[in-house]
Amino acid sequence: MSFRWGVATSAYQIEGATDADGRTPSIWDTFCRVPGNVAGGDTGEAACDHYRRMPEDVALLAELGVDTYRFSISWPRVQPRGRGPVNARGLAFYDRLVDELLARGIDPWVTLYHWDLPQELEDAGGWPHRDTAHRFAEYAVLVSDRLADRVPTWTTLNEPWCVAMYGYADGIHAPGRTDFPAAVRAVHHLLLGHGLAVQGMRASGVSADLGITLNLGQARPAGDDPADHEAARRADGLGVRMYLDPLVHGRYPEDVVADLAARGAVLPIRDGDLAVVSAPIDVLGVNYYFDATLAATGEVRTGPLTGMGWPITPDGCTELLLRIGRDYPGLPMVVTENGAAFDDDPGDDGFVLDEERTAFLAAHIRAVERARDLGADVRGYFAWSFMDNFEWGHGYGPRFGLVRVDYATQRRIPKQSALWYRDRIAGSR
Ligand code: FCB
Repeated sequence: MSFRWGVATSAYQIEGATDADGRTPSIWDTFCRVPGNVAGGDTGEAACDHYRRMPEDVALLAELGVDTYRFSISWPRVQPRGRGPVNARGLAFYDRLVDELLARGIDPWVTLYHWDLPQELEDAGGWPHRDTAHRFAEYAVLVSDRLADRVPTWTTLNEPWCVAMYGYADGIHAPGRTDFPAAVRAVHHLLLGHGLAVQGMRASGVSADLGITLNLGQARPAGDDPADHEAARRADGLGVRMYLDPLVHGRYPEDVVADLAARGAVLPIRDGDLAVVSAPIDVLGVNYYFDATLAATGEVRTGPLTGMGWPITPDGCTELLLRIGRDYPGLPMVVTENGAAFDDDPGDDGFVLDEERTAFLAAHIRAVERARDLGADVRGYFAWSFMDNFEWGHGYGPRFGLVRVDYATQRRIPKQSALWYRDRIAGSR
């Protein structure tokens, strides 16, 4: 695999057409309907209307010169009830998308789960319920049976930490539950679902590269105080090691299990589960946004920040990639998301001279290259995101796109950062 250059999106954030062709509601449709859950009462109902404008969007991807496009499949589109037969009309959309990409020389990279659980499965218990892991594996096999002949790389889950913690502990993402022990059960069932999907896809003959995407960052103590160091250890345990240790080493870290117990939470592990969770994978997707600085009192955010209030910490990206290479050797990595929201200020013609975003991307790409030079096995970089889209609980306010979307007209206008990225990719070939 030579170094891949890509951009990423996800289904609920761009597709719109939420009741087209037999799609049923996902937990995000339900969550968005509750007043107060999403800024401005925004929903994914229209989003970027990508479901209807897909060929035009793929043409734009080709103009960027990316060799890979990472997108996700909407589970309730292709298997509306979260179980049972495939919905042919829903799956046909992804079939066309894959063919359209291949016709333009772009490799499709599929994420099977980017947060849009069919509502019926949440009603049956959601990720804290073990059966959801089996439902996910069944869905993964259904989709890969149809697409794996043309899709060279698959990510099972996007950011299980966010799914479990934001969705079931903090309640700021769908399904909006606030139950820490349930969130911890969700973690285990997400990892189990990942492993079952990998095994199921392999058993049905899939030879493509398979992996998982985690949101990762270094957790640094704010100062010398031992309590700061302890907070950083806990955050690293809950955010990084709780996923990578079982995936790679087939066990949960003892200190994390003890931290969970102290908070009344237990991982619902059954015999044989960890062998499934650690089924061999070909690639680890790393979503890198920023490092966390931890004090005993909580997270501290200082220094230059993005429009999301996220610290700008490119050096941490180098350190993270080197650290994963050290602690989890033998696992090729691809940065499957990196990017930033800033307050874009379009000119009269809609053009956005987004120098901050361009500088952000440039600094992080340099950081990835540095990690490679120092020996980390990093094989690609994908910018988040191809175009402005629905930023979950923040609605349409934050703009992460390289391409501006004028939501009133659905016009797409490449920003300065898109033109820069195109040249950066061309220059590296
Ligand atoms: C990541 C998500 C992605 C997007 C970016 C900004 O956590 O995977 O969907 O929201 O953050």
